[in-house]
Amino acid sequence: MPTVRFLPSGIETSAREGETLLDLALANDVSIQHACGGFCACTTCHCEIVSGLENLEKPEGDELERLEVLEGRTQQSRLACQSKIKGDVTVRVVNFD
Ligand code: FES
Repeated sequence: MPTVRFLPSGIETSAREGETLLDLALANDVSIQHACGGFCACTTCHCEIVSGLENLEKPEGDELERLEVLEGRTQQSRLACQSKIKGDVTVRVVNFD
């Protein structure tokens, strides 16, 4: 099972393959904004992948379009609600409460 570590909380947990970062975060009480409810419409679930970017399924379609116009985007940026887990990842949540 893949292991995912969320920053800045430091919460570390196991994931099911294909589970999204957002679903995993919410199931483990990781604070992360998700204004649109996970429908790739708001970008508040922006995360920076500290390590293991290759262990997420590649972004496509709507996520790529959203990332293109995302303020503060980096090469490691992903939207948590669209990022399906394949292996170990360390993630920095950008917007949290
Ligand atoms: S929760 Fe809105 S884009 Fe991910």
